[in-house]
Amino acid sequence: MNDKNVEVRRGLYGVVSDYTAISKVMPETNSLTYRGYPVQDLVEHCSFEEVIYLLWNGELPTAEQLREFNTRGRSYRVLDAGLIALIHSLPMGCHPMDVLRTAVSYMGTKDPEPFTTGADHVLRIGHNLLAQLPMVVAMDIRRRSGADIIAPDPDKGIAENFLSMVFGTASASVATNPEDVRDFEKSLILYAEHSFNASTFTSRVITSTRSDAYSAIAGAIGALKGPLHGGANEFVMHTMLDIDDPDNAAAWVHRALDNKDLIMGFGHRVYKSGDSRVPSMEKSMRALAQRHDAEKWVRMYEQMQQVMEDRTGIKPNLDFPAGPAYHILGFPVDFFTPLFVLARLAGWTAHIVEQYENNSLIRPLAAYNGVEQREVVPIDQR
Ligand code: COA
Repeated sequence: MNDKNVEVRRGLYGVVSDYTAISKVMPETNSLTYRGYPVQDLVEHCSFEEVIYLLWNGELPTAEQLREFNTRGRSYRVLDAGLIALIHSLPMGCHPMDVLRTAVSYMGTKDPEPFTTGADHVLRIGHNLLAQLPMVVAMDIRRRSGADIIAPDPDKGIAENFLSMVFGTASASVATNPEDVRDFEKSLILYAEHSFNASTFTSRVITSTRSDAYSAIAGAIGALKGPLHGGANEFVMHTMLDIDDPDNAAAWVHRALDNKDLIMGFGHRVYKSGDSRVPSMEKSMRALAQRHDAEKWVRMYEQMQQVMEDRTGIKPNLDFPAGPAYHILGFPVDFFTPLFVLARLAGWTAHIVEQYENNSLIRPLAAYNGVEQREVVPIDQR
């Protein structure tokens, strides 16, 4: 008999599957806290490293704790020769998210320590990935444009070091402008954590089988790549580049809505009346546009948002302002989702630790709606 009368929550819509002490999404007030702190306050007052420390340890660091944390993280900024060769061997046409996923799998094979589910071990892996994946992304960006690879700088924090490795340190580089570095760093803080989103949940499902942290993060990268999740920030920019002229934006959105197309960068599974992270990211996007004479993207942003609001009431999500912000900084569009990875690694690592600490195998049920039970007919009688 088919399971017709079972209540099915497709997409786990509205299902609460476990507890978490890492972050709280409050759609009723459009707000988000990391370990109790409003994300807007963290964006204004903290470095990305302080926020990672907070997510992993539950408290903001003292100056001394932060110094130790940074010294440790920066000591991991050395890439394995085999990993460098592997990255250079990958097709230039493959998606940069595939490069990142491959790099994480490779790093898992080279880790000399046997995997344990202890927090210290998982956090060591998190530190290592947070130090090395920005180097992988920088190397991938530069190899695709035929540019030389730039060495990391142990005196720089994660955001500044990464921008320097991508864009160099000549005077025109965004890496040398503290305001640009800070606006990029703010995007990392906003992208760092968001409760049981699809990629984090993927990492928790993998962790719940007591698999290893590299597998959990490789799986999370796969989930983040999709355009309904992290991939949306790339699609936002493809849309904007396609529209090209802000004066055409309203007509473009009307046409897309008439065709019942999804407009990337709008809507959210949890926030239905506004994404808590958008005001901070929008502020950075506007500041970047002003400094880089790129107001065109702000005008297009406003036009698109207005039509969406008037016709559907659907609000922008974080990817909508992040897309143009990353474009103004100079990143190639297909590297926008890898930037999201560099930030969300912080949240994924915290969730892997939390899942191991109080594990229960994640294994939902399905309502069967296939053919009724029947007898197998041997092949010579079919
Ligand atoms: N453009 C056009 N219509 C949209 C939309 C968008 N971006 N987002 C939602 N809608 C529509 C849906 O098609 C649905 O219409 P219907 O009732 O006529 O079928 C209605 O709004 C309600 O959507 P809902 O079912 O509540 O959305 P969801 O929770 O299943 O999906 C997303 C949430 C994020 C997957 C969805 O909003 C989306 O695909 N957005 C674009 C991709 C994106 O920006 N992703 C990043 C998320 S942070």
